[in-house]
Amino acid sequence: MKITVFNGSPQAERGNTHVMVEAFLEGARRAGAETENIFLAHKKIHFCMGCFSCWLKTPGKCAIRDDMDELLPKMQGSDLTIFATPLYVDNVTGLMKNFMDRLVPTVDPYFEKDAGGECRHLIDKTKVPKLAVISNCGFPEQSHFQVLKLLFRRIARNMSSELVAEIYRGGGTILTDKSFWSWFPVRRYKNLLRKAGEEVVKLGKITGELQKELEKPLISEEQYIKGAENYFKKALQKIENKK
Ligand SMILES: Cc1cc2nc3c(=O)[nH]c(=O)nc-3n(C[C@H](O)[C@H](O)[C@H](O)COP(=O)(O)O)c2cc1C
Repeated sequence: MKITVFNGSPQAERGNTHVMVEAFLEGARRAGAETENIFLAHKKIHFCMGCFSCWLKTPGKCAIRDDMDELLPKMQGSDLTIFATPLYVDNVTGLMKNFMDRLVPTVDPYFEKDAGGECRHLIDKTKVPKLAVISNCGFPEQSHFQVLKLLFRRIARNMSSELVAEIYRGGGTILTDKSFWSWFPVRRYKNLLRKAGEEVVKLGKITGELQKELEKPLISEEQYIKGAENYFKKALQKIENKK
């Protein structure tokens, strides 16, 4: 199985999203997958201009020459594509949205009806990977992912694909926190992510039991809020002291 991750965090390898992706991929490799981890922040991706050249003038090929030329075949050549993104304003990052808009050349202009009778564009189903999402956010509750949950289900429908795994982590900022109190919960969570990677490769999904564990808070909400407030207080104080 070939897995390709597109990570839309502007923080790239320094980000909390990357901590999640890295552990998941470790597990996936352990189960025999071949993996590639792409940071969109390191790529040149212009926004879609809406010219429809990819449908009308040069079918399947975008009018813009940039790094999407190399990224599209990578997505189409993988068995599983993972959209990895932090939550920005309740949504994916701008980097990720730019990338997703530029996937338009992979679909045809023609319509078809899905099983529920709703229109979507035709797509060459031999080039459609299965999809998964990995995301984290700054607020502690899992409810902040409501928009992403719907969004990625819609994207899977639009692409005639299947969303095989959804990993959402509220309170994700502790994943890159080096302080003592976050060490154990993060280590435990990374082990769960490794297991998730393994399950997706071996079973094609995350089992209900593991999904439940993945959804649990890493630390108590009170501890998280207190930690975040202290962090910002100290950071602001440091800047103030330098003035
Ligand atoms: C522009 C911006 C918007 C954000 N919006 C949200 C949000 O709507 N909800 C939330 O819980 N966290 C929000 N966050 C916090 C990020 O999701 C959080 O810092 C996350 O850990 C970043 O992941 P990364 O380190 O992989 O980039 C936002 C951060 C930024 C910079």
